[in-house]
Amino acid sequence: MILAILNQKGGVGKTTLAVHISTALALQGGRVLLVDADPQGSALDWSACREADPLFPVIGLPKNNLHKELPSHAPHYDHILIDGPPRVNELARSAIMASDVVLIPVQPSPYDVWAAKEIVDLLREAAVFKENLKSRFAINRKIVNTAIGRDVVEALADYAVPVLGAAVCQRVAFAESAAQGSTVLETDPQGVASREIQKLTREILAVNTMEVAA
Ligand SMILES: Nc1ncnc2c1ncn2[C@@H]1O[C@H](COP(=O)(O)OP(=O)(O)OP(=O)(O)O)[C@@H](O)[C@H]1O
Ligand SMILES: [Mg+2]
Repeated sequence: MILAILNQKGGVGKTTLAVHISTALALQGGRVLLVDADPQGSALDWSACREADPLFPVIGLPKNNLHKELPSHAPHYDHILIDGPPRVNELARSAIMASDVVLIPVQPSPYDVWAAKEIVDLLREAAVFKENLKSRFAINRKIVNTAIGRDVVEALADYAVPVLGAAVCQRVAFAESAAQGSTVLETDPQGVASREIQKLTREILAVNTMEVAA
């Protein structure tokens, strides 16, 4: 599967989810490549400060021709994840062209709902060339013990992109684990944060294998 994690809005959790889903897939025995398509190089920074042995390689490829470069890597991996950049539309467009599934993290806030229009528009353009492209919203930084922000799920329903059932809550463990180039799957494998990531990962794998409705 080639999975791009995209949203032109900054700080929604693209890198956090990219390193966590990559780790979840690698811990299941998958051969994973994480492509940092963000000129900020956050996923590369994450991997550079890692103390433990790497579970998967991270390469920097902040290029508009990502969709042309990735096929040469594809045979060596079960899963390639792309951590997308904020703002740069050309890079996001190339990542979409390279992908089977696009995951769009959104925080439960109206600002994120409005800002999601940009990526949804890009996906709509790409759908013309890529009939089999699948895309999903994932709620990130949901406040623990609140309803998912039913308003947000309802507002997102105005877009043609479905919202995944698995939401990821706001938890300091995500930022704390990142500081060591690690993930909650390693720092607290049995914890609630780990379970959220595992559930999210399962849902994404299911979306990938889903038949596209005619
Ligand atoms: N579920 C979460 N709980 C707590 N903190 C989180 C969570 N998700 C992300 N964060 C924190 O929010 C900040 C932004 O997250 P992240 O860097 O993953 O977003 P991004 O979309 O990749 O940002 P950018 O657009 O700049 O690349 C980071 O400090 C990260 O640790
Ligand atoms: Mg990032």
